[in-house]
Order: sequence, then structure tokens, then C-alpha cells
Amino acid sequence: MAVDTQRAEALSSRIPTDFVLGFATSSWQIEGSSHTRGRSIWDDFSETPGKVLDGATADPACDHLNHISEDLDLIRDLGANAYRFSLSWPRVIPEGTGSVSASGLDAYDRIVDGVLERGLTPYATLYHWDLPSALQDRGGWLNPDSHKWFADYVHLVAEHFGDRVDTFATLNEPWVSAFLGYAAGIHAPGEKNAAASLEVFYRLMVASGHGIQALKAAGIKNPGLVLNLTTIIAEDDDVSEQAQLIDGLQNRIFLDLLAGRGLPEDVVERTSSITDWSFVNDAGLAVAAEPLTWLGINYYTPTRVASSGTDAGKIVGQGDSVYPGVSGVNFVPRNPRTAMGWEIHAPSLTSTLLATAERLPGVPLYVTENGGAFEDVVSAGGIHDGDRVDYYDSHLHAALDAKDQGVDLRGYFAWSLFDNLEWAEGWTKRFGVVRVDADSQKRTPKDSALFLREVYRSVS
Ligand code: FCB
Repeated sequence: MAVDTQRAEALSSRIPTDFVLGFATSSWQIEGSSHTRGRSIWDDFSETPGKVLDGATADPACDHLNHISEDLDLIRDLGANAYRFSLSWPRVIPEGTGSVSASGLDAYDRIVDGVLERGLTPYATLYHWDLPSALQDRGGWLNPDSHKWFADYVHLVAEHFGDRVDTFATLNEPWVSAFLGYAAGIHAPGEKNAAASLEVFYRLMVASGHGIQALKAAGIKNPGLVLNLTTIIAEDDDVSEQAQLIDGLQNRIFLDLLAGRGLPEDVVERTSSITDWSFVNDAGLAVAAEPLTWLGINYYTPTRVASSGTDAGKIVGQGDSVYPGVSGVNFVPRNPRTAMGWEIHAPSLTSTLLATAERLPGVPLYVTENGGAFEDVVSAGGIHDGDRVDYYDSHLHAALDAKDQGVDLRGYFAWSLFDNLEWAEGWTKRFGVVRVDADSQKRTPKDSALFLREVYRSVS
């Protein structure tokens, strides 16, 4: 289907010429070649029967490490000026601490150099959930030394790539690692222990602070962090207190820590029967508040809750079990919804950006992930993913609305470049603007890729 150029033009004419426009990916989801690196908790989790919907494991994924050139050409040809990717910690340091893998560093040298050769700006994420298994054996993020392991790894990467990469994020979505990994148990390492999830949240934020310090010590210009923040919508008064706690656990615990306000009192109080928070101390709070030069927001859907409701079916990542202390709440996404069960509601991206700018003033923001999974239909004429085109169009407008209202928004990354391993959903949920066939490894741009190409190219 031909790109609707008028629609693309209506969008691109709103985007400033210095705006960062790119695509995002993550190591475990696309790299493959797991035999050339150390193991991660996602290898252990995905190889445990029943944990990943279709039984998919790390190989071949998108076999990206054997397609680096072709894949980076694609990103350039789609008009991006930036690429957000992550480094796999066990590819760089197989056991998490100790010896460094020369071939692991070489893989990222090839990616970074290839990105730069094509005139793209690299946005590197240091941790996108693939913790070395060897560190999980030592307690993982619950180990009080975890921030030291992380800072050493960050320092090594910053020293190695700092001559070519200016922008790093310490963590991707610590909320997911803590609450989907340790409370709901639907992500690695698959624990269902609410107390542990709150401790992991805190230790991750302390580790991020140490990571930011390590990046600064290595002279990195733009150290930042990526959070998944969203707007919590309470449908009725009866649910307003629970919605406030959900907002606390989803948004405020992160932004309050970063802004130096410590932990929100209402959250501490309302989780006091779960944990006494005795692992928190002033030194940790101070490190977690280490100033960032930018914050990335991954946004997909609002969280809409009500005191009653009909069964909404599966909504990936939403439910009482995800939020320690929350119970008896109905999660009630409205239509239209994506294949994840997630409500499509672009105004909630605008409100999320506005609320974040208010809670963490003075920090430039990026949308570091945004996109949708849909049931794609492959036809001889292409993949006409009109739903995804609509999603990108409306959400880019929504992001620009926030910018027009004063938010210091610097860029936007579509999630994702490729159909890839969508964690516990495996290959069953496709987020790519480019289709990837896991068997043939053929890459086919969908209509959404062509739409974004039209928009991106006319800006940068
Ligand atoms: C985010 C993750 C990303 C991808 C999208 C759909 O939470 O950061 O890896 O799975 O969701």
C-alpha cells in the first residue's frame, strides 16, 4: 500500500529538525548466538518448560550478530538518525564479574562502528534484563553487592566505548525487572515474592545511581536511565486509593528517588505489612538521586482500573499480582486494544510526559520505546499493518503535543525495529516495523516501516 504522504507530512512538519528519531531493540530479543556469550537469567527462564508461551529460546532470535551490516543498513534506509540497542552483560563479562570477553567487546565494536559509519547516533543501554546467570547464583539484584558488580561492568564498557558513544542508559525499565520478575513471576527469574520485589526495585535504583557515577567518572557526556512510566486512570471513586498506590509503585517511587525526595511515604506505609524497608539507607538514597542528563520513557498503554468490571482477558503485565499491596482491583482496558491486550490511548502518552516533566523538572526527556503488537497478515503485496501505522501516527502526535505544552522532549524511538523475542510471549507477539521470519531470517519492511521512513526522512 502506498504511504499516505499527506498524513506523513502532517506529522513531520511538526517535528523539529534536531529531533532524535530512531528505532529500539535489545540484546536478548534479537542477537541469537548465545553459544558465544555467558548465560543469562533469560536463557534459564526461557529454557524452563512453560515459562515462554511458544517455548522460544535465545536462538536464533533475529540472528542479529550474523546480520549486523544488513540490519544497520536497514535502520539507515528507514531514515533514522539514531539507534537504541542494548549490550548483553554476559556477552561482555560471561560470569558477570572477572574476565572480559574479547569477542563480546568485538561484537559491540562492530555494532557501534557500523552505527557511526552510517551517520547514526548510538544510544546504548547497559542492562535490558539479561543478568548473567552466574550473578543470579550469587543472589542477583538482591545481593547488597549487586551495585558494585554493575558499576564495574558499566565502567569497563564506558572506558571501552566512551571514545565513540556519548549516550548511555544504565537500566531499561527496572519496574519490569522488579515487579514482573519478582512479584508476578512472569519474567526472569520468575519469583513470586512481593517483599523481594520491593527490595530489588530499590537495589536496582541504587545500582543505576552507581552506574551513572561510573559513566560520569569515565567522562561520558550523557548518562541516563530508561523507565516505563504511564498514566493510571481510575474509573470510579471507590478505586481511587488503590489507583494512587498503583501510581506510587509504577511512577512515583522512581521519580521521587531520582528527584531526591526519597521514597513516597504513602507507598512505604501501605506496603509496611509486606516489607519493613530496612534495606533502605541514606547513602543508598543519595546515590539513587545522582543527577541524570536525560530520562527515557517507554510508553505503550495507560493502566485503567475500576472497582468492578467484566473480565478483560489477558492483559500482559497488568494485574493485582504485579503491584505489592494492591488487591481487588479490576484492570479494565478499553477498546481498541493491541495483541498484548493493551488499550490504545495516545492522550495518555501526552499526560505521562507532562506528569514526568513536573515530577522530575529540568531533565530532558526522550520517548525511548513506543509501539504496538498486532496480528500481521502477510500478503503478496506486503504487510499492510494499518493498525500499527495508526498507532505510530497518533502517538508521535501525542508526544509532540506534550512538547508543544512545554515538555523538553528531545527524541522518539519506535519499538521495535524487528519482530523479535517478546520475552514470555516468545514470537507470538510481533512489535516490529520490519517482519522477521525466524526460520528464513528474511527481513520484510511492513507498511509501518514505510510510513515512519517517510516521516523520519523528511525531518533528518
Ligand atoms: C518493554 C520492553 C521491550 C519490549 C516492549 C514491548 O517493556 O522494554 O523489551 O518487550 O516492552
